[in-house]
Amino acid sequence: MLAIIGGTGLTELANLTITHRHDATTPLGNASCGVIQGTLDGSPMLFLPRHGVTHSIPPHRINYRANLWALQQAGATRIVSLNAVGAIDPFLKPGSLMLPDQLIDYTSGRDATFFDGDFKPLEHIEFSQPYDETLRHALCLASEQAGIGLEEGGTYACTQGPRLETAAEIARIAMEGCRVVGMTGMPEASLARELAIPYACLALVVNPAAGVVDETIPMDRIQAALSLAAQRAERVIVSLSQQAL
Ligand code: HPA
Repeated sequence: MLAIIGGTGLTELANLTITHRHDATTPLGNASCGVIQGTLDGSPMLFLPRHGVTHSIPPHRINYRANLWALQQAGATRIVSLNAVGAIDPFLKPGSLMLPDQLIDYTSGRDATFFDGDFKPLEHIEFSQPYDETLRHALCLASEQAGIGLEEGGTYACTQGPRLETAAEIARIAMEGCRVVGMTGMPEASLARELAIPYACLALVVNPAAGVVDETIPMDRIQAALSLAAQRAERVIVSLSQQAL
């Protein structure tokens, strides 16, 4: 079953008909909320807002392990993660969607593995390609079918937050080859891989990253970009859910 992890700007899917709410408790603590099960235009779907229903859990305090565990328990067989990002590449405009093909993890101190020697014995997973190619391809097709532009490829930088970056940090991250920056892409992606669930990130561009443009972007413009990108993302998800597997 297709599962969506919603991020900032997407704490619910407007057209989801809810049929069941799973329990939030897992052996790894509580998930951000119980996994929501339902149908979107007739297609079965799971949904989990990673910041909780009231958007109160900051990126570094999300229990990513519990979230991924809860999704697997609920029957997730592929996961599309929606992540708000800042654009490091000035070509990427606020309100647009981007599909990363690589990531760099700049986070620290997050519980990042099931294979910690306590919960599960040590294991080293293969992670050279962090996102599932088949699911990425399906998302490209879905966006095409929905008539929504999707910028294909680039590296997602995951910073610790919750503060935004300095201009110098973004300049460094840009030199290291990243195209977008967000705070929630890791350890989600590697935890999904540890559970062998195909996972892809659909990035919602909401602002130019620090120092990329000279002006300070007012909050209402960021909000407008977020809601535009969220509407577009939702249409891509509807189109994805209607694809024959
Ligand atoms: N930096 C980090 N995370 C973000 C940003 C940003 O500029 N915009 C949205 N999420």
